[in-house]
Amino acid sequence: MNVLKVKNYDEMSEKACSILLDKINSVPHPVLGLATGSTPEGLYKKLIEEYRSGEVSFKDTTTFNLDEYIGLSMDHPNSYHHYMKDHLFQHIDIDMEKAHVPNGDVTDVQSECKDYEKIIHENGNIDIQILGIGTNGHIGFNEPGTPFTSRTHIVNLAESTRQANARFFGSIEDVPTRAITMGIETIRESKEIIVLVSGEKKAEALSRFINGDVSESFPASILQKHNNVTIVADEAALSKL
Ligand code: PGA
Repeated sequence: MNVLKVKNYDEMSEKACSILLDKINSVPHPVLGLATGSTPEGLYKKLIEEYRSGEVSFKDTTTFNLDEYIGLSMDHPNSYHHYMKDHLFQHIDIDMEKAHVPNGDVTDVQSECKDYEKIIHENGNIDIQILGIGTNGHIGFNEPGTPFTSRTHIVNLAESTRQANARFFGSIEDVPTRAITMGIETIRESKEIIVLVSGEKKAEALSRFINGDVSESFPASILQKHNNVTIVADEAALSKL
């Protein structure tokens, strides 16, 4: 794994943006894997700026988000559909038919998982996947203990994840207990992976990610075995290495 050290959150976002732009501008039909949460917000702001100044078009880009809560409607303010629309999609020229986020508001969630997996495959898998990392090592919503061989599936969210995400909801009781997530095997099939890590609260997780054992108890550790991973981390995140 390649580690790119940057000063702070802003530089991390800048670096991630330039890596994505290079990819979008060099592949005829780029397929991007996108993440939600606080970490990629700065990246999305920068992508919008680049789009507005004419440096990039998303017309030929396809995107796949990592995950979505089960039980929230697409227009719920805390759904990841809403997050993506708000933070990126409504500001750029992407064809919304090509902007995929798992749908957690369906009666047959199992079929939704299967279909999502199928469309990723039909698009030739992901060219470049943006990932954040949870303090418990989760990637997407693949919590500790998830098999490395998992495909897009239903997960029960860890209590620590629900607590971490309660800041977006009124209270922890309002945070859904289940989600759909791309599986670990699905993520591993991405041709290139960029992991963004910022802030002291991720320092312990980053240290274990880079130097710890490869174990299903720390999902991100499997990326040590991927041949094209770049970690873009700021000084605070790197403080425990
Ligand atoms: P965060 O979440 O970007 O909001 O810190 C990352 C994650 O939990 O995967």
